[in-house]
Amino acid sequence: MLKIGNLKLKSRLILAPMAGVSDYPYRMINRKFGFELAFTEMINCRSLSFKSKKTKRMLYFDSNDKPIGIQLLAAHPEYLLRALEVIKDYKFDIIDFNAACPVKKVVNRGEGAALLKHPKKLNRLLRIIVKESSVPVTVKLRTGWDGKVSDIKELASACEDSGIDAIFIHGRTREQAYGGDIDYETIKELKDHVKIPVIASGNVLNPQLAKKMFDETDCDAVLVARGALGNPWIFKEISGFLKDGSSMKEPSKSERIEAIKRHLDMNVDFYGEKNGVKLFRRFLIWYTKGLPKIRTLRETINRMKTKESMVDFIDRCFYL
Ligand SMILES: Cc1cc2nc3c(=O)[nH]c(=O)nc-3n(C[C@H](O)[C@H](O)[C@H](O)COP(=O)(O)O)c2cc1C
Repeated sequence: MLKIGNLKLKSRLILAPMAGVSDYPYRMINRKFGFELAFTEMINCRSLSFKSKKTKRMLYFDSNDKPIGIQLLAAHPEYLLRALEVIKDYKFDIIDFNAACPVKKVVNRGEGAALLKHPKKLNRLLRIIVKESSVPVTVKLRTGWDGKVSDIKELASACEDSGIDAIFIHGRTREQAYGGDIDYETIKELKDHVKIPVIASGNVLNPQLAKKMFDETDCDAVLVARGALGNPWIFKEISGFLKDGSSMKEPSKSERIEAIKRHLDMNVDFYGEKNGVKLFRRFLIWYTKGLPKIRTLRETINRMKTKESMVDFIDRCFYL
């Protein structure tokens, strides 16, 4: 059992927040395969105050899409406060604060991973969320800004002292972005230093690597991010392996086709056909990873404009 504040979770696998990926259809297709907590895409507090159509869609969830956390991005207390006011009515189960995003545009505004360099400021922002929120609050960190982490303990204490309920940590520095080795040692150092749960992220790409993360860091749970792209079955695979070392039977062609079509259906229902198909192209590319003639398949996918053409393609390419 994992406890994040008053939120109790049976599964120690959590679906990671991924900008441009973790929308409602993506969360729902993954939910069929066994985890509990999912997150929205990262939402910038400034855009939240404007409540654009796009932001409203990012905030959407229903009773089947629970428990659900929202991930906020901010550097200024006033935007943060405004955003917290807007999301009050939505009844999210958890609020996560992003201090991990490595994107240049984001860090240049002092948001995301830029906050790793300013533990005191991060502490002040987290305190605001803790004060205003009636649900558990968490933070997502990286192991540092660049090179070797200078002081993960100082950063961890700054977060824990704010009163938050758990820490998520991606075991890479901002400089590493999404490549290079995972720094299991620093995650372990963080875990040993704090009393609140630590949820680790980084290369949880298969059951063996999930186990490695648990074994080497003593973390309380793991985030599954890129490992779930095109492979929602990963949650069952990891759960089975962690339970008794068993490996799951590969999904059959028909199971695969059924899941992909279901995901496409949900995308089209959620965004309308034109945008739904366009947005589904990258998912279809992930689903077809490993198939022969992948380059040609990708070119074909990137030209698709209708749901019918996609359905036809899905039927054909998995039976090649
Ligand atoms: C396309 C993409 C988008 C991401 N967006 C977010 C985000 O919005 N918020 C966040 O905290 N992490 C984000 N991440 C980081 C993941 O949550 C995760 O920590 C990271 O990918 C490491 O895990 P992995 O190596 O298992 O993929 C993103 C990662 C990817 C690949």
